This record gives sequence, C-alpha cells and structure tokens, in this order.
Amino acid sequence: MAEPQNNPSETAVAAGAAPAKPAPVKPAPAKPAAQGPSRRGFLGAVFGSWFAVAWWTFAASMAGMLLGTVRFLFPNVLSEPPSSFKAGDVSNYEPDKVDDRYKEVGAWVIRGKDERNRDIIYALSTTCTHLGCTPNWLEGEKKFKCPCHGSGFKISGVNFEGPAPRPLERYSIRKTDDGQIVVEKARKFQKELGQWDDPDSYILL
Ligand code: FES
Repeated sequence: MAEPQNNPSETAVAAGAAPAKPAPVKPAPAKPAAQGPSRRGFLGAVFGSWFAVAWWTFAASMAGMLLGTVRFLFPNVLSEPPSSFKAGDVSNYEPDKVDDRYKEVGAWVIRGKDERNRDIIYALSTTCTHLGCTPNWLEGEKKFKCPCHGSGFKISGVNFEGPAPRPLERYSIRKTDDGQIVVEKARKFQKELGQWDDPDSYILL
C-alpha cells in the first residue's frame, strides 16, 4: 500500500527549516509624465483654426455678394418732385404776394406785375442762379435772399445784389378752363434770353 507523501515545505518546517519568503512584488512601471498635445493634435488645432477662419471669411464674402445682388435687384427709388402740379385757383392769389406752399416742389407762385405793368401770375424756380442753393422769401424786405453767398432777387425774380449772374428762371404756367393754375416744371424761361415775353411763362389776369 502506498505511503502518503508529505508537502516539502511541511517537511522542511517539520525539519526545523525557516519558511520561504514571499517573492517581492515588482512595482508597476511608472507612467510617462503627462505631456502637452501630441504633434498631431497640435497641427490639427492650428490648421483647424485656420480652416475655421478661412471658412468664415469665405462665408462672409459670399453673404456680402448675396446682399449686393439683392440690392441690385431692389435699387433705391429716388422720389423726385412732380414735374407738374396744380397751384389752386387764380382768384385765390393776392397782388404782390409770394405763395411759399410749393417751395418743397421747387417753385414759388406769385401774383405781380410785368415790365409793362400788367397784372400777371408766374412761377419762379427756387434754384439760385449762382450755385444752386435755395433762397428764402423775406416778406418784410420783399425780396428773395440766398443764404449761401447773399444773392438777392426782387419779387419779379430779377437779381439785384450778390454774385448771382442772372434772374431766377420761370416755369411754364397756364390756367385751365375752370380757373385752376397748372405749373409745368419741364419747361423753363430765362429773362436774359427774352423768354419772359413768351405767354406760356405767365398767366395774364
Ligand atoms: Fe445763391 Fe451763391 S448759391 S448766392
């Protein structure tokens, strides 16, 4: 019959030998110290940001082009004053009075006298014949005075002071069958050219 075999260490203990020491635990290898972004990450960050800048620049320029196209499709509409307008009934005009109501559309409508002392209604342009400013009618002084360089014009439109070289211009004017005044700005009359004698430049009362 076979004899049970003893464990060698038990045998050694039993024989009075010192117990075997446990094997030393090897320390885990140290992890490499934390470093900055890898070369690949760094390049990605640099080129990524440049790509973003380029992309936004491209997008902004495309948006600008689009806006320009839209503006081209819908151009600014300049509101020009009307080239002709009605200036009320002839009977409403008093002698030697300047009607300032149509200054915004570029004309004064006036009842006055012509060189033959006839009673007429005429329309003067509000453009100074010096450099194009708009004079003001000064009722107390009975004259048009230009604020830019001081030219003065009589109620007839004739220049008498300042640098303006010639009278204000008249517009074409007529009376309708029912007594309404119509001013046509498309046609002008200059005194120095003898055009104030044209019956289209005044309404004879
Ligand atoms: Fe009227 Fe010069 S523009 S005086």
